[in-house]
Amino acid sequence: MDFTGRTVAVTGAAMGFGRAIARSFAERGARVFACDIDAAGLAGTASGTSIVTDAFDLTDRARAAAWVRGVEAASGGPIQVLVNNAGGMRGQHGKPVEAVSDEEWDAIFALNVDATFAVTRAAAPAMKAARRGRIVNISSGAAFRPSRTRIQAYCSSKHAVLGLTRQLAMELGPFGITVNTVAPGLVLTDADKQATWDAMSAERQAFALGNIALGRLGEAQDIADATLFLASDMAKFISGQMLPVNGGSF
Ligand SMILES: NC(=O)c1ccc[n+]([C@@H]2O[C@H](COP(=O)([O-])OP(=O)(O)OC[C@H]3O[C@@H](n4cnc5c(N)ncnc54)[C@H](O)[C@@H]3O)[C@@H](O)[C@H]2O)c1
Repeated sequence: MDFTGRTVAVTGAAMGFGRAIARSFAERGARVFACDIDAAGLAGTASGTSIVTDAFDLTDRARAAAWVRGVEAASGGPIQVLVNNAGGMRGQHGKPVEAVSDEEWDAIFALNVDATFAVTRAAAPAMKAARRGRIVNISSGAAFRPSRTRIQAYCSSKHAVLGLTRQLAMELGPFGITVNTVAPGLVLTDADKQATWDAMSAERQAFALGNIALGRLGEAQDIADATLFLASDMAKFISGQMLPVNGGSF
């Protein structure tokens, strides 16, 4: 896959999937613009590459839109591939619904849904004018079934990302823009997820792996590979779709 000269924007690129996605595009010739709240992590992503970084809080919608404007100005044209990857559980853990505060609920929606909306809204006009574009939203297995995290807002927000993906595919399709979502299974991208996995008994780990056809957890590169496919010319007639990348998990 060759992305030479394409302008690619990736959110949440300081670690995990976002880092693998940004670096994979850069390795294939893209002009990559990456953002995240974590400046040090972003620097690690960009190290040894030409990836252009910007550190800010994506829940600030005006700042998110300004980032898009900056990418367009620096590249001299529209964003050609937008990857809305930033998201997550915002440090939360599952608890009974009656114990969830407004702030906890809102914090997850602000990042997983509102930031995806804000960045896409800002990028869409130039993409439409170019009559070409690719948008890939990173959702989750929690976009189509309950979440093992037991976090209500996480599951609800990822379902919302799927809905936004489908709606925007209908709206932007006439402009030559595809909109799809990659739905990853569990990948131990950070210490918190690793610690949760390590705390599980050997029996529970074996049960979890037994429910994955390929018998292993995913890796960040697995998610990056699927994202690049959906952004490539090979996926030019695929839109409004969810691609689970979970090793065959049912
Ligand atoms: N790792 C998994 O098992 C898994 C599974 C399914 C879906 N996902 C989704 O994949 C995406 C990437 O997950 P991950 O595990 O690589 O990393 P993650 O979910 O821990 O974090 C993603 C990135 O978002 C950044 N971020 C957090 N808050 C931000 C903010 N306010 N503004 C800007 N950036 C912010 C973080 O610094 C991090 O670099 C997320 O949307 C996540 O929900 C992950």
